[in-house]
Amino acid sequence: MGRKILIAGNWKMNGLLADGTNLAKGVAEAAKKLGKPQCEFLVCPPFTLLTSVKKALRGAKVALGAQDCHFAEKGAHTGDISPVMLKDCGCQYVILGHSERRANHGESSELVNVKAQAAHAQGLKTIICVGETLAERDEGRALEVCTTQILDSVPESSTWQDTVIAYEPVWAIGTGKIPTTADVEEVHKAIRKTLAKKLGKSNANRMRILYGGSVKPNNAKELLSLEDVDGALIGGASLKVEDFLGIAQNAGVC
Ligand code: PGA
Repeated sequence: MGRKILIAGNWKMNGLLADGTNLAKGVAEAAKKLGKPQCEFLVCPPFTLLTSVKKALRGAKVALGAQDCHFAEKGAHTGDISPVMLKDCGCQYVILGHSERRANHGESSELVNVKAQAAHAQGLKTIICVGETLAERDEGRALEVCTTQILDSVPESSTWQDTVIAYEPVWAIGTGKIPTTADVEEVHKAIRKTLAKKLGKSNANRMRILYGGSVKPNNAKELLSLEDVDGALIGGASLKVEDFLGIAQNAGVC
């Protein structure tokens, strides 16, 4: 379907001014050398680095994203950041509903849905994350959990242009464990089918579904060659230029 591959780095709560800026410069330089038209790069630093990373990325084909946002435009929400503020910093993307936010901040799929609508209203693209825990997989509920999260978290007004899905099994994040390629393919197909029911076939066929959870240069080829895997959401390995770009290179897509 000609979906553009997205190689996205989720820096999480890592990086101070000096090393964050250096990392961004390194990614910018390397992306200039790679960067086939069918491949898109994205980095999502912590809020504190958005402005300096934006500067470091000047002239490079690397998009900027944040890791969360509030649903309101402004107001009495201590500690929160609004979609308008992210736009103002130069963000094009925002990650929503990451399992660390669902688990550590009690975020529900309904909240993720409202945040996504607010982000889209400001012209931000969202990366909406879903994924099962190990207990849920062991109970044979992985597909049910992921498709329910899709139905509840993705706004009805979403389109392939403003929404990217990330399938991230919670038990694969930061653990070095990854599902079998058959399991990844099964969940991605189920997600696309659910998206088709919710948003129509044409949106579902063009919407990108990333895989995330312990993606490294040495497993990228296997994962990214799967038919319904349209890129990767990368945590740990996005903190080193050679690993982040190595994933893109080894996948042979960028
Ligand atoms: P990981 O994290 O690559 O360190 O497993 C992925 C994520 O949480 O997005």
